[in-house]
Amino acid sequence: MLQLVYISTARGEPLVSQILAVSRRNNSRDGITGLLYHDGVRFLQALEGPTDKVEAAFERIRADEQHRAAVVLSRREVETREFGSWEMAARRPGAEGNDFIDRVAPLLASVSPNVRGTFEGFFRVKRAA
Ligand SMILES: Cc1cc2nc3c(=O)[nH]c(=O)nc-3n(C[C@H](O)[C@H](O)[C@H](O)COP(=O)(O)O)c2cc1C
Repeated sequence: MLQLVYISTARGEPLVSQILAVSRRNNSRDGITGLLYHDGVRFLQALEGPTDKVEAAFERIRADEQHRAAVVLSRREVETREFGSWEMAARRPGAEGNDFIDRVAPLLASVSPNVRGTFEGFFRVKRAA
């Protein structure tokens, strides 16, 4: 199974609720799970699932005009899902409530150190900003 993590820059004000609705529908059909983080400026997304399905989803995502400059941070084969069985978790900018990193931390416990470092670095930078 393929695990792909990328970062991108939002264009304008993407409709995150619509992105999530489409993602949840398609991803549950395709056996894809993962994580989508959006802070109002960047997206960070992890996709896990059958290699051909993840590649096809990423082709569609990459072509989406709601963001640009997608850069793959990590692309690796994994035996089991490291992001749990979430269909797509997400945080929207300004969302109240639990700090996102606290919700995501348990999820990252089983993620490889490289991928975890990428996420934690991203969250730390955003928190400090
Ligand atoms: C940041 C971002 C993340 C996305 N994530 C997913 C995703 O995980 N799965 C998915 O199918 N589409 C995702 N999309 C939407 C795709 O770009 C595309 O619009 C969608 O897959 C088309 O689905 P449809 O052919 O069923 O209309 C994402 C879009 C953006 C901008």
